[in-house]
Amino acid sequence: MKNINSIAVLTSGGDSPGMNAAIRAVVRSAIYYNLKVYGVYEGYKGLIENNICELKSSDVSNIIQRGGTILRTARCDEFKSPEGRQKAHQNLKEKGIDGLVVIGGDGTFTGAKFFSQETNIPVIGIPGTIDNDLYGTDYTIGYDTALNTVVEAVDKIRDTASAHNRLFFIEVMGRDAGFIALRSAIAVGAEAALLPEVKTHYEELKEFLLANNSHKKSSIIIVAEGERHGGAYNIAERVEKDHPEYNVRVSVLGHMQRGGSPSAFDRVMASRLGVSAVKALINGHSALMCGVLKNEDVLVPFKEAIKDTKQLNQALLDINKILTI
Ligand code: F6P
Repeated sequence: MKNINSIAVLTSGGDSPGMNAAIRAVVRSAIYYNLKVYGVYEGYKGLIENNICELKSSDVSNIIQRGGTILRTARCDEFKSPEGRQKAHQNLKEKGIDGLVVIGGDGTFTGAKFFSQETNIPVIGIPGTIDNDLYGTDYTIGYDTALNTVVEAVDKIRDTASAHNRLFFIEVMGRDAGFIALRSAIAVGAEAALLPEVKTHYEELKEFLLANNSHKKSSIIIVAEGERHGGAYNIAERVEKDHPEYNVRVSVLGHMQRGGSPSAFDRVMASRLGVSAVKALINGHSALMCGVLKNEDVLVPFKEAIKDTKQLNQALLDINKILTI
């Protein structure tokens, strides 16, 4: 057990729905365990610029249902250097802060790993990214909400696609990972999904479309942003050139996937991980990410969460294949 009296919390990298619920859980559980708690504004940038304020329980009232992050977020190059991290350390020391909770994705945890190695300040991470691409946890905060946003949008596109007998390529987020694409494809009954993890050759796609076109009038193809053909516009252009008879359209859902009120699932996940992070600091842990695996709370070293690649669920890949005939 380490003697922790005062902690800080920040959000960093791309925001995700449920980050506010996680901030609330960190603040309220810290106060519950008699710790002083600070909020750092704009991620690591705020840590370096000393944009740090004490938070009371009432400061996190009425935020559990809000998307975005009340602490705001940023990507910060200065924190990538030891000098930047030393400035941040100095600011925490001056305020007597002896523990840090960071909410974000792999970039956030990479910074946190170096910071915890170079200073005596323990750091615990909470996975917050819509991409769900962190190893060691079944879910990241924001993934479920983003998925529901995609499903709602694609259902609407399906109506117009079928009214016009159109072939739609719909691009969803997931820089290097196909988690949103695979699950949303199953949920909307897409005709196909193009994923970064599965090498689909262009010829294969063409054959599939030809076969599909004989018994279906409209089609939805979900394209993960990090997929190998260079995005929905590129692939649609190629298909249109080869098959001028297809009525092709593209829709890139973009940042709408990152916004909106978090789902009940994400709110509960965020609350659970927020409490878990504060307990981990009190119990003397550092350089770990709090996660949930098979519905059990787990602590995963940052170096594993960042380095190891989380695989897509093979059972879901099989289901998708079976259902897209
Ligand atoms: O990491 C989450 C994510 O939503 C990715 O899927 C996407 O590539 C990226 O953020 C875009 O982030 P931004 O526009 O903020 O740079």
